[in-house]
Amino acid sequence: MRSWATAVDLFAGAGGFTEGAAAAGVRVLWAANHWPLAVETHAANHPEVEHACQDLHLADWSRVPAHDILLASPCCQGHSRARGKDQAHHDSSRSTAWAVVSCAEFHAPQFVVVENVPEFQGWKLYPAWRMAMNALGYSLAEHVIDAADVGVPQHRRRLFIVGARSTVPLHLGAPAAEHRPASDVVDFEAGRWSPIERPGRAAATLARVCAGRARHGDRFLVAYYKSERGGRPLSRPLGTLPTRDRFALVDDDRMRMLTRDEIRDGMGFPAGYRLPTRHKDAVHLLGNAVCPPVVAWLLGRLKEAA
Ligand SMILES: C[S@@+](CC[C@H](N)C(=O)[O-])C[C@H]1O[C@@H](n2cnc3c(N)ncnc32)[C@H](O)[C@@H]1O
Repeated sequence: MRSWATAVDLFAGAGGFTEGAAAAGVRVLWAANHWPLAVETHAANHPEVEHACQDLHLADWSRVPAHDILLASPCCQGHSRARGKDQAHHDSSRSTAWAVVSCAEFHAPQFVVVENVPEFQGWKLYPAWRMAMNALGYSLAEHVIDAADVGVPQHRRRLFIVGARSTVPLHLGAPAAEHRPASDVVDFEAGRWSPIERPGRAAATLARVCAGRARHGDRFLVAYYKSERGGRPLSRPLGTLPTRDRFALVDDDRMRMLTRDEIRDGMGFPAGYRLPTRHKDAVHLLGNAVCPPVVAWLLGRLKEAA
C-alpha cells in the first residue's frame, strides 16, 4: 500500500502501533523504547524503521524525524486497574505521558494518537495534560474502543485520544464488526497438556474447572486470576490478555495455558510476527501491546476524515 502519511512511535514496545500503521498505509520513520528486548523485537519485525533505545524523558526531539502523526502508548501501569484499585501507586510511569507533550511541542505534527487504559482519564493530572495539548493547538477526541468490535477475538477496552490541529475535536466514530470467537485462535493439537487431576493442582483451579464444566461442557477457558470463576466459552472472544499468563484451555480431562501463538493471534498480530524466545517475555510484550487491527481501523478513519 502506498503511504499517505508518516509517523513516529513512542513507547513502541512489540510494535502494535507500527504494525497497524503499516497496514493503514502510514510509514513509521522512528520508534523508541527504553527496554532493549522491546527494541530488538520491534526492529526484527520493522527493520525499515529507525530505532532508539532510550528513556523518552530524556529524548532530544531534534534528533527525531519530522512526521505527520505522533503515535504514543505511554506506560499504563500507574493508571491500570490491573494493579488493584486500592493500591496507592506513586511511580514515575505516569509521567511518561509528558514526553508526548514535549515531542508534540517540538514537532507540531498534524495529528497525535495516544493509547492508554480508560483509567488514564481519571489521572489527577489528566486535565492539566489535556490543557497542555490544547495549548499546543490540539483539539482532543477521546475514544474508548473494544478490540472485539474491530474483529479481534479478544475483549480489550482501550482509550485512544485523537489530537488534531483543528478547532473542533475529530471524533472518528465507533467500530461495529461482528465478534470473533476464541475458538478462532485456540489449537487443540498444540501446547503442552497436563491432566487436570494431578498431584499438587491447586484447589482453587479445580474449583474453577468444575464451575466451568458445569456451564460450558468439556471445552472452555478458565482465567487464573480476576473475576471469571465460571470459565469462558470458546464461542465468545477471549477476555483481556494481560502481561502474564492468564487463561488456561480445558479439554475434557486435560488442560494447559494458552500458547504464545494463540496469544499473538488473540492480539491480532500476523502469524509471522517475531517474538522473543522466552515465553514470559513474549507474553509480556504482547500483553502490553496495542492490537494492530484497532490501529489500522483508527488510522483508516483518520485518513478519511483528514
Ligand atoms: C504500553 S507499552 C507500549 C506498547 C506498544 N505500543 C505496542 O503496541 O507494543 C509501554 C512501553 O513503554 C516502555 N517505557 C516505559 N517507560 C519508558 C520510558 N521512560 N522511556 C521509554 N520507554 C518506556 C515500556 O518498556 C513499554 O514497552
